[in-house]
Amino acid sequence: MSNAARQLIFATNNQHKANEINAILGATYKICTLREAGIEIDIPEPHDTLEANAREKSTTIFNLTQTDCFSEDTGLEVAALGGAPGVRSARYAGEQGKTAENIAKLLNELAANKNRKARFRTVISFIEKGIEHQFEGICEGMIDWHCSGDNGFGYDPIFIPTGASKSFASMTMEEKNIYSHRKKAVEKLISYLNLNK
Ligand code: IMP
Repeated sequence: MSNAARQLIFATNNQHKANEINAILGATYKICTLREAGIEIDIPEPHDTLEANAREKSTTIFNLTQTDCFSEDTGLEVAALGGAPGVRSARYAGEQGKTAENIAKLLNELAANKNRKARFRTVISFIEKGIEHQFEGICEGMIDWHCSGDNGFGYDPIFIPTGASKSFASMTMEEKNIYSHRKKAVEKLISYLNLNK
């Protein structure tokens, strides 16, 4: 039996996501981003659910490579905004998806609303030998009144997970991974992989 780590293509070009997932995976699994796999492609996210967008990304890469791979799609769901921006989180302030503009729009929409309840939801789509399996991870929390912290990415400066007293962007990656939606979804993927070795 070989001790070599099992390699999976992670259908993303988001290095932040790859770093977070690498910190969660032990030595048994190794991920390789699209760039690292030499795949130059920008996969669209045309659907209205995280599940369908995640499937679009993993299916596209599986069809290209015929190799086991996974993707993930994440949305920030804000209760007082009826679950928006949700699946449109990346493009909330427009198709170009500038992070600062997305955050500004969200804070503006919430304005003085005292209901700051929100959650991050991640859906992983894993394709193994052509068959898809999905894993969900949710992190409950609240939207802060202003940005804080320089770490992380996306909406991290305004999201405080339940049980913490500072934003994701004020945490180290290891601290974020105590609470993280992505971590919870990846743990389910790892359990599946370990059970089905
Ligand atoms: P996507 O999953 O790459 O489509 O991301 C959707 C949007 O949510 C983008 O604006 C990301 O920057 C943001 N996002 C995804 N994951 C996280 C996270 O862990 N923290 C903060 N923002 C995130």
